[in-house]
Amino acid sequence: MGDVTLVRDFPDTTWADNGPTRAVENVVESGAVLRFPHLRFTMMETELRFLDPRWADGKAKNISLRWPAGEMRGAAGNPTELAALKAMITRYADFAEAFALRLFPHYRGHLQRGNTSFRPVDVAGRATSWRKDDTRLHVDAFPSNPMHGTRLLRVFCNVNPSGRPREWRVGEPFEAHAKRYLPAIKPPLPGSAWLMERTGVTKRRRTEYDHVMLQLHDRAKADAAFQQGSPQARLNFAPGTTWVVFSDQVLHAAMGGQHMMEQTFYLDVAHQQDPGASPRGTLERLLGRELR
Ligand SMILES: [Fe+2]
Repeated sequence: MGDVTLVRDFPDTTWADNGPTRAVENVVESGAVLRFPHLRFTMMETELRFLDPRWADGKAKNISLRWPAGEMRGAAGNPTELAALKAMITRYADFAEAFALRLFPHYRGHLQRGNTSFRPVDVAGRATSWRKDDTRLHVDAFPSNPMHGTRLLRVFCNVNPSGRPREWRVGEPFEAHAKRYLPAIKPPLPGSAWLMERTGVTKRRRTEYDHVMLQLHDRAKADAAFQQGSPQARLNFAPGTTWVVFSDQVLHAAMGGQHMMEQTFYLDVAHQQDPGASPRGTLERLLGRELR
């Protein structure tokens, strides 16, 4: 068995600027999971009612806010209730952003706020296909949403009220993972990126980088021997725990749990402290050439 993704614990008890952990860009860029076992998102008495799957409208697995407007998707309720729900999720977005800028001050001015989501629905039994099955180890990459190398930084918090952990598996480091599948990955078919963009299959051009990342995502999820036999570790995040990862780099699988907050940020790879440590940098080093 090879190495698995490292978990680093930090003692922070506050989201605010006076917490102890700061300038840990090198830790997150190395592909570690940053875990804060004593950093809870406190819900107000009037918000505890939202810890119920009935607030999800049934079509989406998440209730989410889309920025910059903060438009809410996936929720069902009357206008007063929806306003209170939105206020709670917005508070999490603000906390997570202040926290991320303290942990990663060099990203200030470059960290772009992506969706904020609240997941009141149980992880178990929601997958509709192997490709969407997040109980299989994978790095995040999306068929319709090419990232062009932009990083996906995520701040999660378990808000389960009954002591249930969020159960993850984490896998091998990104470089080992890339080496496993890279030799078998063929270049995209000529004209396919143009065609997919033209027909709306992708929101923008799927670059060679996006092609390789999506291949890694798909090949890992489709490979039963890899899922069962590759280096991996179980990781439980108790309620009141926050954790931070680059989810396009850390091999992860969500095995169980209910009630979670999640904030996504985008970061241009050029604004990392060490762009060479990114998936793009790693893939280009292994290939010995630039990815277009
Ligand atoms: Fe994922």
